[in-house]
Amino acid sequence: MQTYTIKPAKAVRGEISVPGDKSISHRSIMLGSIARGTTTVSGFLRGEDNMATLDAFRAMGVEVRDDGETLRIEGMGLHGLKEPCDVLDCGNSGTSMRLMTGLLAGQSFFSVLTGDRYLRNRPMKRVLEPLSRMGATIFGRAGGDKAPLAVVGRGLNGISYASPVSSAQVKSAILLAGLYAAGETEVTESHLSRDHSERMLRYFGADIETFGGGVKVRSGVELTGRDIRVPGDISSAAFFIVAALIVPGSELLIKGVGVNPTRTGIIDILTAMGGSIELQNCREVSGEPVADLLVRSSALKGIEIGGDLVPRAIDEFPVICVAASCAEGRTVIRDARELRVKETDRIAAMAANLRKGGVHVVETDNGMELDGVERLEGCTAESFGDHRIAMSMLIAGLAAGGEISVNDTACIATSFPNFITLLEKVALS
Ligand code: S3P
Repeated sequence: MQTYTIKPAKAVRGEISVPGDKSISHRSIMLGSIARGTTTVSGFLRGEDNMATLDAFRAMGVEVRDDGETLRIEGMGLHGLKEPCDVLDCGNSGTSMRLMTGLLAGQSFFSVLTGDRYLRNRPMKRVLEPLSRMGATIFGRAGGDKAPLAVVGRGLNGISYASPVSSAQVKSAILLAGLYAAGETEVTESHLSRDHSERMLRYFGADIETFGGGVKVRSGVELTGRDIRVPGDISSAAFFIVAALIVPGSELLIKGVGVNPTRTGIIDILTAMGGSIELQNCREVSGEPVADLLVRSSALKGIEIGGDLVPRAIDEFPVICVAASCAEGRTVIRDARELRVKETDRIAAMAANLRKGGVHVVETDNGMELDGVERLEGCTAESFGDHRIAMSMLIAGLAAGGEISVNDTACIATSFPNFITLLEKVALS
């Protein structure tokens, strides 16, 4: 088992770029593969999750060349994918599994999807249920809730679906199935989840329309290959934003970060806590807003977090808990039940780890309450096999009174392979 020990830092300083956005990287492979013509992707995230998606599409006959800088995907058109001759392994990646299930439901072939022990334990009924309503035939363990999933591709019908969870994976699975379904497919959600699928479908020429609270796609239109530049992942930048805020004397410039408004909950939350985060050089790249972020260490205070901020910062709660532990006063997180079904139960995982660091944490069903401390105590934390838990506890170590060791850090490679290298570059000892 890989363990990493982090020493308290004197400051976090310098200029970095973080790797490409994970959500956009997945979607670039998927849409590039079913478009007509060539799609090029620069800034693609070469993390394990995205490589699982890439391997799956290669297994369905898609030619992808990678010169180390840019991917060149030779699109097969909407109906060009081939039946894979083996099980498609999604590794740890919920996005690969849920989005591909939607895409595969309307193909004219059979496929099977599996993943690692964490992914095989995550809920899949949330996509199987709406896809079945569209006419899909999909089987899974636990009455269709758990992978491996067996997808018997067939003709689908469009539906209008009010999603009970604000989940971009559910929404995207339905939209991708909708490209193959007769007529129109509509998805609404109570709080808007990340809209990368909608933006990229539009960019590729799909017949798609967004409206207050929802999105509609009509089938029958071929997509056209495009050039995509993937912005830096704000979910990866989040670790360094918090690092620079909580270590006194810090100033960090993070260049080329995606600032799609459905993802910037982390900036709103940390700003409300008193953090100094300046957006500079705002621009649009391949249909997505991008900016450079200048972060300076700040005295943070506890706040209450809930409502539509939750889906807009859904992957950032582990590191938000770290910021809250270094803030003055109490932070209350609610409406975040979804955290219990991520790569691990992130409420339980962060509560357990922060308690080891001397923080008073009360878990609730859909969030937690925690009281900031002057300085976290050195301790040994567990990743629970979850990349974001591992990285969050390493960031905590920068501002702790002693060393923090994190067990089982290999999972960091799923989303941020050069995390430790960047951390060692900017954390001054
Ligand atoms: C993602 C959606 C979110 C997020 C995940 C990536 C996506 O999951 O947590 O890391 O790319 O669509 P949910 O749809 O389960 O909220």
